[in-house]
Amino acid sequence: MLDVTTPTVVTMEHATLYLADAYALLPRLGWVDAIVTDPPYEFNTSGGGSFREQRGHTDQIAEEGLDQGFDHSIINSLLCGSVVVFCHNDQVPALSAYLQGSFSRSVLCMWIKANPMPMANKHYVADAEIYFHAWNRDHHPQGSLAEKKRHVRSQVGRGGKYGHATVKPDTVMDKIITNVAGKVICDPFMGTGSTGVAAVKAGRTFIGIEHNPKHFATAVERLRLAHEQRVHAPP
Ligand SMILES: C[S@@+](CC[C@H](N)C(=O)[O-])C[C@H]1O[C@@H](n2cnc3c(N)ncnc32)[C@H](O)[C@@H]1O
Repeated sequence: MLDVTTPTVVTMEHATLYLADAYALLPRLGWVDAIVTDPPYEFNTSGGGSFREQRGHTDQIAEEGLDQGFDHSIINSLLCGSVVVFCHNDQVPALSAYLQGSFSRSVLCMWIKANPMPMANKHYVADAEIYFHAWNRDHHPQGSLAEKKRHVRSQVGRGGKYGHATVKPDTVMDKIITNVAGKVICDPFMGTGSTGVAAVKAGRTFIGIEHNPKHFATAVERLRLAHEQRVHAPP
């Protein structure tokens, strides 16, 4: 059990990363412009038959509890102007209702996978992932007309490289950060820090929370690299 009264904190110029439990810490951090997060999905990881081995990361997802869902109340519209939140297909009805009750507008968007696993078993091909963007007044989506598309097309990410089963690709996170209003962006389920990397690259300030020490260490390294690249980027 993590000691949430004194969480481990790593502070960088444009990012603050906490090794902590998000439910205990996030309400104590105060207002942020936006929550951008990819929380544990809620779905059934049993079965899979002969497809199971090809699905590779399903065992890791179950072992780390990334199939257990999350408590919607962690998205508190009194403490943020907008939210981007990924979810599983089965979570759409409940999450949509929650966001519509908390924010003035909510839109369903999609990451279309350019290279989905070529298998379907008794279901559709897993070639798309859903996210909601919900906002309150003055925190509406940003960007040019071309940047305001509701979908982004990208290859599946590099979970293997970072030892995490659900790493989101840079292309997807860059698009999302472009669309999110405000300076301070928080990801309470930051995993390996993909939201933070996109936020820092885009000149925002990032606050991340992760409770798994291994993934937290990966996020620290990725955010350090993002800072170095930001320093060396042409003005
Ligand atoms: C779906 S993954 C996020 C992956 C991330 N988008 C990436 O690209 O690396 C969700 C993360 O939330 C973390 N997590 C789950 N429950 C948590 C909690 N109560 N507090 C903090 N982190 C938590 C998990 O360890 C996991 O790394």
